[in-house]
Amino acid sequence: MELHFSTLLSVLITVLHLSTPSSAECTFPAIFNFGDSNSDTGGLSAAFGQAPPPSGETYFHTPSGRYSDGRLVIDFIAETFGLPYLSAYLDAVGSNFTHGANFATAGSTIRPQNTSLSQSGFSPISLNVQYYQYSEFQKRSQVVRKRGGVFEKLLPREECFSRALYTFDIGQNDLTSGYFMNMTTDEVKAYVPELLNQFSAIVKDIYFEGGRSFWIHNTGPVGCLPYILDRLLITAGQIDRVGCASPFNEVAQYFNSRLKEAVFQLRKDLPLAAITYVDVYSIKYSLISQAKKHGFVNPLRACCGHGGKYNYNRHIGCGTKIRVNGTQILLGSSCKDPAVMINWDGVHFTEAANKFIFDQILDGSFSDPPIPLKMACHRQDR
Ligand SMILES: *[C@@H]1O[C@H](CO)[C@@H](O)[C@H](O)[C@H]1NC(C)=O
Ligand SMILES: *[C@@H]1O[C@H](CO)[C@@H](O)[C@H](O)[C@H]1NC(C)=O
Ligand SMILES: *[C@@H]1O[C@H](CO)[C@@H](O)[C@H](O)[C@H]1NC(C)=O
Ligand SMILES: *[C@@H]1O[C@H](CO)[C@@H](O)[C@H](O)[C@H]1NC(C)=O
Repeated sequence: MELHFSTLLSVLITVLHLSTPSSAECTFPAIFNFGDSNSDTGGLSAAFGQAPPPSGETYFHTPSGRYSDGRLVIDFIAETFGLPYLSAYLDAVGSNFTHGANFATAGSTIRPQNTSLSQSGFSPISLNVQYYQYSEFQKRSQVVRKRGGVFEKLLPREECFSRALYTFDIGQNDLTSGYFMNMTTDEVKAYVPELLNQFSAIVKDIYFEGGRSFWIHNTGPVGCLPYILDRLLITAGQIDRVGCASPFNEVAQYFNSRLKEAVFQLRKDLPLAAITYVDVYSIKYSLISQAKKHGFVNPLRACCGHGGKYNYNRHIGCGTKIRVNGTQILLGSSCKDPAVMINWDGVHFTEAANKFIFDQILDGSFSDPPIPLKMACHRQDR
């Protein structure tokens, strides 16, 4: 049989056509992040006062607006794409938005809260507010950028918005806020569908304004965190073999299963979107339940805090100081070696734990579809 050159060529073209679109690594020129303290790089600090030292001690060697001793997962994601750490949108001092912006603030929820920060501890910058800020930023940054000069060096190019990676890590506070209002697990579960309606609506809004690549973290095992173990009523029978409070982890998993369904629906509704669902719950739970194997100790104790079984006291948080006879004393102090601790301050993870989590999500083994972070711009139709 004679194989014609033209046949060969067309086979070659077909092969190339099939392989190139999904094999090229993505070059995201920007990241726009939405979330809570798990990914806040300075938003709440800019608006309501800096997260005090010793936060930031390990990597930035100064408070950096992060609720951790160092970098967060979102910082490692930015590093992966050779991008600078994201400036908080709310931070008026020293910010540079050429490669993205961070709309997350600590204490943020998906649903707007009906209480103030001082009443409940939850941020008024809920996901819908973060979206308003993003939407304004997208429009106004382009108007201001045209002025040239320094503005060109502080604001993103127009094409960044369609080529950016849009990252989300939010939901944890929606669940805990119900419990702090003394709701039962059934009452908390009852509003989960509404949370996901609001979440999906925001993803769609961003898509219709040009966003295409979405990277969505599910919510972690909140029942393993000192602030839940210490503050909420838990019976002995509700504690699992690891020491975590099962009802809160079950509600987190319920939220996650509904989030995954919402993502499936979004893929159907948004034909040009590449949406990755990332199971950080499983990574965090395996880190906490097999701490020793991964090089960590005391997985349920806060590194930075004050006393009690979990080294956590809601009235004496990490960085709390008192003045005794004119001398300042740090009551919420850091542990000796944050590098072997998982929990930073009773609520958040240490840099070492964040690095561990990031290393697991990088290759896609905890993602749906199971594609590496660097492929997150490619839609996978199965
Ligand atoms: C706040 O109040 C509105 C109106 O009553 C309600 O629909 C919403 O669910 C409330 N939000 C929260 C977080 O409770
Ligand atoms: C902002 O960051 C970008 C990228 O790192 C840099 O090229 C630019 O010069 C910075 N802008 C200013 C005003 O320093
Ligand atoms: C929840 O219950 C506790 C204990 O009964 C009570 O002290 C607290 O005020 C209640 N909180 C709310 C928001 O109702
Ligand atoms: C503070 O000063 C008073 C008066 O000198 C003294 O009685 C008290 O013990 C001091 N407190 C501490 C904690 O040193």
